[in-house]
Amino acid sequence: MANLCTIGHNGDTTAEMRTLVLRDVDNDLAIFINSTSPKWRPLSQSVSLLTYWPSIQVQFRILANTSYVAEDIVAESWLLRPDPPKRMDWFYSSVTAQSSPIASRERLLEQVAAIDPPTPLIAPKTAQGLILSPYQMERLDLSQDNGVHDRTLYLWQQDNWVETTLVP
Ligand SMILES: Cc1cc2nc3c(=O)[nH]c(=O)nc-3n(C[C@H](O)[C@H](O)[C@H](O)COP(=O)(O)O)c2cc1C
Repeated sequence: MANLCTIGHNGDTTAEMRTLVLRDVDNDLAIFINSTSPKWRPLSQSVSLLTYWPSIQVQFRILANTSYVAEDIVAESWLLRPDPPKRMDWFYSSVTAQSSPIASRERLLEQVAAIDPPTPLIAPKTAQGLILSPYQMERLDLSQDNGVHDRTLYLWQQDNWVETTLVP
């Protein structure tokens, strides 16, 4: 589970959440998304992130500012993607945006099959990455022998993490 997270942001009336792969880009946390999705605009400012690692029973809740992953890093890592997601990224930029409605799944599959990505193969401009710079983190560790969970809040203040114990 350490490679996955739930990312959230405020929607019009309620919180919006989705599962994303949580990546390591040069020791920074990062996510890769397509900028045609409506989530691009809110997430490209700040994110709320949740990840639970069942093997060690630890949950992290993180608030982070975001900045763009450098274009050359996106380009390089995009080439390592399997063929279907590469096609989908070209579909989003040349046919219709991610998360938009389409007539049917059959129509989707036909149109994806008809995508003719450029040669040599490169990432479309809409394939993007965001570096996450946490400014608040909370770690909850359930694996305590005495059964009382260990919960710590970390706040980034003046170039240091300030640690506070919270009631679990
Ligand atoms: C295990 C898993 C991993 C996922 N990883 C990503 C990802 O790295 N990037 C991404 O854009 N969507 C990923 N998704 C799909 C998103 O959860 C979401 O359905 C999609 O991005 C559409 O989101 P939107 O409605 O906010 O545009 C993943 C879904 C699952 C279940």
